[in-house]
Amino acid sequence: MRRYTDAPVSDAEVEACLRAAVQAPSGGNIQPWQFVVVRDADVKATVAESYRLAYDRYETALVASLPPFRSEEDEASFNRGLAASRHLAEHMTDAPVLVLVAMPGIDLTLTDDEGPLDIGPLHASVFPAVQNLMVAARAMGIGTALTTVFRIRQDEVRKACGIPDRYEIVALIPMGRPVGRFGQARRRPAETVTHWDRWGEKRDFGPALDPWDPPRPATPRIPPATDEELDDDARELLGGARVAGRDAVGANIFSTLVRHKGLFRRWMPFGGKLLSGKLPARERELLILRTGWRTRSHYEWGQHVIIGKLTGLTDEEIARIKLGPDADGWSDLDRTLLRAADELHEDACISDATWSELSAVYDDKQLTEIPMVVGHYHLVAFTLNSLGVQREAGVAGF
Ligand SMILES: Cc1cc2nc3c(=O)[nH]c(=O)nc-3n(C[C@H](O)[C@H](O)[C@H](O)COP(=O)(O)O)c2cc1C
Repeated sequence: MRRYTDAPVSDAEVEACLRAAVQAPSGGNIQPWQFVVVRDADVKATVAESYRLAYDRYETALVASLPPFRSEEDEASFNRGLAASRHLAEHMTDAPVLVLVAMPGIDLTLTDDEGPLDIGPLHASVFPAVQNLMVAARAMGIGTALTTVFRIRQDEVRKACGIPDRYEIVALIPMGRPVGRFGQARRRPAETVTHWDRWGEKRDFGPALDPWDPPRPATPRIPPATDEELDDDARELLGGARVAGRDAVGANIFSTLVRHKGLFRRWMPFGGKLLSGKLPARERELLILRTGWRTRSHYEWGQHVIIGKLTGLTDEEIARIKLGPDADGWSDLDRTLLRAADELHEDACISDATWSELSAVYDDKQLTEIPMVVGHYHLVAFTLNSLGVQREAGVAGF
């Protein structure tokens, strides 16, 4: 990510990334890393200017050395990368934080009677920490870029930050909220660069495991109660329940859960109350659908697509719920609701920033319902997923 908004990155977030960085492996656990976090505007401007000047030389040399492109697509992709790199070189100060990674410039080569032992370069013990930092940042929605071209003017950068001469600076990582969306990078497919047992022995990979659609039981672990299994009490309980335009008896969620009548009797009124609560129905359904997606509950998703449409959600909005709060096209309020659902899912608490946006719109009762709705639909999703409740015929999944 090489384009950043002016949104802040907190010290707590930087510290979380650095804690992740130092968990990295290193040869012999020597941990040969030091980090310099640059926020000061003057220091940042000096480092950024050195980077820009270094980048100018690099780009000129790179373009002069290019072999012909193999396809127009390759050329377009290269030019997109180059434009992004140039943007970063000219706007590095947009990033609220720069992290420099340094390692001691000492020779740690071990020797024995037969001579020096090649156990790999020292750099190889630093870059796992760099990658950990970047991945941790990504998990918090913070974009980074791994850069090294500043090394053409390393002495200036060292001086700007007071880094002793005995340290080599190996990476400069800007951190900021990305302008664009995170996505899949353009890379050669793994099967084209993988050899099995012997060099040159390549093979096709099987179907990709989809981390967005992890396995759920394909058959019920606890089946819905059949007509014959329902006694009068159970029938009466089901009589009060409906789901997305269908009788409760025919709805697998209810005919499964009614097997536990004591729980069912008390759970139903609570769920019903949330569905006729103080939150506007469309906004409630945004929270529920985001929860159904994050918990990968096909059943919850399928039912609430039907209900969500009745409350005014469009097909396009429903598809966009999967992309989350950062997708283009949401109103500020929709975005904030989706973010609240994500924060509850990830951290069991709505952040200060999101809470203050919600409380500008909602009263105390509505604010109380938001975590209740998200929490309740976690409960429902956990139960549906784990019991293996299957969708009814005609109800679509993801
Ligand atoms: C060791 C290393 C050094 C890099 N140095 C720079 C750099 O100085 N400036 C830059 O813009 N990108 C730098 N990159 C990023 C690559 O240019 C980038 O990963 C590559 O062009 C593919 O682009 P993408 O990751 O955005 O798909 C570096 C990457 C690595 C691994």
